[in-house]
Amino acid sequence: MRQQIAAANWKMNLGLDGAKSLLSDILKEDIALAEQQQVIFAVPFPYLMLANEQVQKAGYAIAAQNCSNKKSGAYTGETSVEMLQSIGIRYCIVGHSERREYYHETNQILKEKVDLCLEQGLVPIFCCGEALEIREKGTENDFVRGQLEESLFHLTAEQLKKIVIAYEPIWAIGTGKTATAEQAQQMHAFIRSVLAGKWGQNVADDITILYGGSVKASNAQELFSSPDVDGGLVGGASLNAPEFIAIIKALKK
Ligand code: PGA
Repeated sequence: MRQQIAAANWKMNLGLDGAKSLLSDILKEDIALAEQQQVIFAVPFPYLMLANEQVQKAGYAIAAQNCSNKKSGAYTGETSVEMLQSIGIRYCIVGHSERREYYHETNQILKEKVDLCLEQGLVPIFCCGEALEIREKGTENDFVRGQLEESLFHLTAEQLKKIVIAYEPIWAIGTGKTATAEQAQQMHAFIRSVLAGKWGQNVADDITILYGGSVKASNAQELFSSPDVDGGLVGGASLNAPEFIAIIKALKK
């Protein structure tokens, strides 16, 4: 059975005190998770170890927001997957649209990152999704299929089963404009059909596909109730404890 995940993406926000108190406010709620549910916090690099320690008791996980596509060596300013693995980090966001857009990360670079994560036993949370002009042209399915083909289609079924996919339409990120539950469900079902075409229905049915883009307490339940939406990758609303707590509670049981 696939997992239901509430993943917080803090992006480049919060100082150390703010980070600690946000986590502790969420931990205080002591939410009982069902077996297939998981809560993940993608925190900025400087807080990874501390946050990992802080959430351990609750059984939550910490993710890095990015990693290098190189194994190690003279790459000033980069963080390798091996380093993340060595400090006990289990997840890494790969290919967030902000990385693709502002740091020119291509499908090929993201393929390398996915491979390094899998080699080191980290779960890549692989992001895909189209910009507004693509949706307006009606070519969003082809565009997302291309992203999946170029970064993931070289994987074996066993490898694919270890990844999480996040569909994040760029026009819905940080804009307050959420995809409707119907739009999200349509794309998630399409993504699952692409996976099924390549690896078979059983494999596709096991893959967690998160929705991201202005998820908040007020819309989480409706979005998550769609059959192919297995939780969310949450930016803005994850910086507010009551909002994120409500989003965790909206996960399918
Ligand atoms: P948002 O961001 O929830 O602020 O739209 C989501 C994301 O970028 O992961």
